[in-house]
Amino acid sequence: MLRPVFAANWKMNNGPTAAVEFMRSFISVYPKQNDRTVIFFPPALSVAPVRAAVRERADLLLGVQNIHWEAQGAFTGEISASMARDAGATVVLVGHSERRHVFGETDEECGKKVVAAEKAGLTPMLCVGEKLEERERGETESVVLRQLRAGLSGLSAPHSGPLLIAYEPVWAIGTGKTATPADAAAVHRVLRAELSAFAGEKAGRVPILYGGSVNQGNASALLAAENVDGLLVGGASLDPNTWLSITTA
Ligand code: PGA
Repeated sequence: MLRPVFAANWKMNNGPTAAVEFMRSFISVYPKQNDRTVIFFPPALSVAPVRAAVRERADLLLGVQNIHWEAQGAFTGEISASMARDAGATVVLVGHSERRHVFGETDEECGKKVVAAEKAGLTPMLCVGEKLEERERGETESVVLRQLRAGLSGLSAPHSGPLLIAYEPVWAIGTGKTATPADAAAVHRVLRAELSAFAGEKAGRVPILYGGSVNQGNASALLAAENVDGLLVGGASLDPNTWLSITTA
């Protein structure tokens, strides 16, 4: 995957009709790039129109926002990794803070989802990040390391398969409060060091994205921080023009 990696997490926005319009408008002004990757994480119902739009474009990837760890069965409302792969997705978000803190997803469940993703041929983008009170108690490092280790615990080490990590401090998501480039670099350094234990010399190739109130004004500075290989963007990925200025930062 070419770096930098720009990932649009649409959350529960852009249904099928809006997704078609967004992709038409974005692609018309975003010619093929060979020095970066853009990933779209639409809601599951909008996977088909986004797939149709990115089909001819190796620089644009399709992902899903969540999967269940089981392959199939009586799990009303859920989708499996193999279904997401069948629908054209190649990446999946695992452990986004809204999944963890709104829907009560545990570290252990995140680990099972990472394994399910890998088995189905989906690249997991494991999200980690501390809450404000954890940061204030000086627990940032221990929280992100616990989440990283639990998330990767089911993979065999040394790991060489495709993997993405996203650091998203919970206090910076959708709040307008962004971590400074120095804050991001400090946590990314810790994550990179831990990845070395897990993936050996290939750790340097695992992209670590920063997310949390990224916008067109702060994208370049965050991207320039050490060990920041890309950006995971929510609110500012919903307008094609804003998204264009971030992805061409
Ligand atoms: P935000 O969301 O850019 O709106 O803060 C980021 C995310 O939750 O992935």
